[in-house]
Amino acid sequence: MTLKALPLLALVTALGVGCNGRSAENPPKAAGPAGVHEHSTGSEHGFPDPQTYADRLDDPGRDDWQMPEVVVERLGCRPGMTVVDLGAGTGYFVGYLSEAVGRRGRVLALDTDRSMVDRMDERIERDGLGNVKAGVIGADDPGLAPGSVDRILIVNTWHHISNRVAYAEKLLASLGRGGLLLIVDFTIESPHGPPPQMRLTDDTVRRELEAAGFATELLEQPLPYQYIVAGRLP
Ligand SMILES: C[S@@+](CC[C@H](N)C(=O)[O-])C[C@H]1O[C@@H](n2cnc3c(N)ncnc32)[C@H](O)[C@@H]1O
Repeated sequence: MTLKALPLLALVTALGVGCNGRSAENPPKAAGPAGVHEHSTGSEHGFPDPQTYADRLDDPGRDDWQMPEVVVERLGCRPGMTVVDLGAGTGYFVGYLSEAVGRRGRVLALDTDRSMVDRMDERIERDGLGNVKAGVIGADDPGLAPGSVDRILIVNTWHHISNRVAYAEKLLASLGRGGLLLIVDFTIESPHGPPPQMRLTDDTVRRELEAAGFATELLEQPLPYQYIVAGRLP
């Protein structure tokens, strides 16, 4: 797939759009599995304590339940593909995605929060992830050119997005032929995750994606706290 998304990404990054209130979250106050986020404060100026939030996202113990290799395997990336990590946070997934698409591929790691994108830039530099580009996006628009990406991964972020059907329509348009979107989020039954009133069932996510025109499927997988909903071009 092409790199048509990159100039637009550069534009939105240059504009510095971001730090929207709806994306901001508090780190969990109660104990949970390391890396689990809990809920949003609705702050207009980003995270009240970005370092604590970032530490939780990157806690090594997260791997035990997040199973990043399983998630990325389900995404079915191939060398040369362009993959988007939407709401990428500190970039927990980008190393896995970078490896999956290889040197000819591209990873666009997008987030509304500037402090998270700064952290991703540090990770990209530290880990030498030459095929990863981090950028700030607006809350209502991923800023992706039509037909420009092959895979989209959204982990623990879909429930933060407003106007989700309209947003999903933009994601659908951004996918090229054979494109795939995965939404990974906490189940209602999970003992951890955001407050129950913020969570979305897998049925709700599927209905939202289908309303936007996706064909959907609930994937079988071993993650203990989260479901994975796949959305494909019909
Ligand atoms: C719980 S974190 C998940 C981060 C990452 N996906 C992970 O699993 O480690 C949610 C992230 O979504 C971002 N976010 C919130 N609303 C967003 C939106 N409308 N578009 C893109 N990112 C958003 C937040 O800034 C935050 O970094």
